[in-house]
Amino acid sequence: MLNYGIYYMKQHKTLLIIKPDAVLKKNIGNIISMLEINFSLVSIHTFNFTENIAKEFYIEHKGKPFYLELVNFIISGLVVVIILGGDNNIITNTRMLVGCTDFQKADKDTIRYKFAESLTKNAVHASDSFNSFLREYKLIFNKNYEL
Ligand code: CMP
Repeated sequence: MLNYGIYYMKQHKTLLIIKPDAVLKKNIGNIISMLEINFSLVSIHTFNFTENIAKEFYIEHKGKPFYLELVNFIISGLVVVIILGGDNNIITNTRMLVGCTDFQKADKDTIRYKFAESLTKNAVHASDSFNSFLREYKLIFNKNYEL
């Protein structure tokens, strides 16, 4: 784990997950290289989603046709969870670098354009708001994020 703790306390944060498809295809390093250009890497963790955590993580999609596929995919292998630090636009800027959910509509210089292969196997997830960051952090690390 990479953790510079106190040096990043004043930065705004977000959470990014490198999903099992990108891990399997050995794209962890390529994705981290793209992140490092614009953001600070506060900490990096490997994680295995359990079914319960995955169902809760994607609760907003419960009832949609792709919900179970999403859950089954995220539990199918190791993921890498990265806490990113930056300025107060970190959440928007990270999602811009991630690109559209549908990789076929993503800009060429985005992570999903380069590494996604389908709507489900779309390489990465990034929190869509500060509240989502807090919720996702708590689910994954089983503790509250300390501001
Ligand atoms: P993610 O950013 O992890 O958050 C929600 C996920 O739902 C998204 O990535 C996609 O993988 C998935 N998703 C969103 N819309 C669809 C869809 N129409 N069909 C299948 N999967 C979807």
